[in-house]
Amino acid sequence: MKGILLAGGSGTRLHPMTLAASKQLLPVYDKPMVYYPLSTLMLAGIRDIMLISTPEDLPQFRRLLGDGSRFGVRFAYAVQPKPEGIAQAFLIGKDWIDGQPCALALGDNIIHADHLSALLRAAAGRPQGASVFAYQVRDPERYGVVSFDQTGKAVEIVEKPAVPNSNWAVTGLYFYDKNISRIAPQIRPSARGELEITDLNRVYLESGMLHVEKLSRGCAWLDAGTPDSLLQAATFVQTIQSRTGMLVGCPEEVAFRMGFIDADHLREQALSLGKTELGRVLLELAEGEHA
Ligand code: G1P
Repeated sequence: MKGILLAGGSGTRLHPMTLAASKQLLPVYDKPMVYYPLSTLMLAGIRDIMLISTPEDLPQFRRLLGDGSRFGVRFAYAVQPKPEGIAQAFLIGKDWIDGQPCALALGDNIIHADHLSALLRAAAGRPQGASVFAYQVRDPERYGVVSFDQTGKAVEIVEKPAVPNSNWAVTGLYFYDKNISRIAPQIRPSARGELEITDLNRVYLESGMLHVEKLSRGCAWLDAGTPDSLLQAATFVQTIQSRTGMLVGCPEEVAFRMGFIDADHLREQALSLGKTELGRVLLELAEGEHA
């Protein structure tokens, strides 16, 4: 399975911070924001990743991520000239996707959960249909919202409804079977002029092919799209990391744990991070001091 990391948009809700810098390159505590969804894709076992961003920002992502060999993955890059919707990623990436199943992660979404890798691998391994994750939030009207019938079956999915039918937001992480390349071109722009990912998901829902996995309350799903949520995300990462000594959203660590890179490779990456705390923790991991 391939994976797209979408890091476009103009980040208007974070102006003036994003006037001259991409939102997804802003720091979330000790790492660039895009590291978190990148780690999520890698935890799903995905090693072929296309990063899509604006023409202005793409060179900075190349500078940060390179060809991916640092993380034991392969990066491709493509431009989204205008912010015309999340589902456009599948049109932009069509040739690269090459008729294969493909996941999509939004560059500002952070998921941290126990057993996440198992959940993600199950989604990536489903041979047919699409898989999305739902999370209970206080302000569902900000998101795609999915509602369920009494048996727990997903029955409706709506983008930013004024009056939501449930509190279950659809997170910015999507897994699609190989039909995605055929279905994506059928989507038409919404009233706000965007190719909505929710419309794509509705096609799968209506054909009985949308698997909705509810994330339990023990999971954390954060987006970092406003000053408050950016600060909350940073504080969350700091709290978990300083309390446990474990890392959140660190692609070098994930690469090592997933077997994408070996201990020597990890040590090299750790040393290149100099005297940072992140470098120190990764060095310990490479030396086998963490279980
Ligand atoms: C997008 C999607 C929405 C989803 C959200 C997750 O919203 O359109 O369905 O719930 O990401 O972050 P946007 O960030 O474009 O407002």
